[in-house]
Amino acid sequence: MKTYNRFVPIVRLAVLAACTTLLVGSVAIASPTTNEAKSPTFYEDVLPILQQNCQNCHREGGANYGGMVAPMALLTYDQVRPWSRSIARHAQARTMPPWHASPDQAGLFSNERGLSNEQISTLVEWASGGAREGDARRA
Ligand code: HEC
Repeated sequence: MKTYNRFVPIVRLAVLAACTTLLVGSVAIASPTTNEAKSPTFYEDVLPILQQNCQNCHREGGANYGGMVAPMALLTYDQVRPWSRSIARHAQARTMPPWHASPDQAGLFSNERGLSNEQISTLVEWASGGAREGDARRA
């Protein structure tokens, strides 16, 4: 009986330790994922959209669009960040990228550009979520 009594606290301690390890471990694993889901980041979510839809005009020496050249480059985080709200507004209003005067004209030109609804909400959520930079290694 004495042996049994001596072992019970040890078993309890071991179970407690195991639970704590599990708990701490899962919190550590879960938290970055939760933060990421909160708002989009530049490198992971926004940059690919800009590369695909904006940078052929929005860079130094960018495309000349009907005699107009895009006023600012949108290549790096530092260049894009000050424009986050304006980008969100233009994306929502579908005034950027240009050439997309109305949805019923979509597909008329082989080089038709336009953002999907999902891309638009990514840009809007990025701006309202504080225009987070994210991890350049994940670009
Ligand atoms: C075909 C070339 C072209 C493409 C592609 C393009 N832009 Fe533009 N953008 C322009 C030009 C030219 C202007 C300046 C004239 C104007 O404001 O309409 C401009 C203006 C803007 C402005 C407003 C700047 C200001 O002074 O307020 C924003 C914001 C913007 N673009 C964002 C974007 C984003 C985001 C994309 C991609 C989703 C994009 N543009 C794609 C040519 C382009």
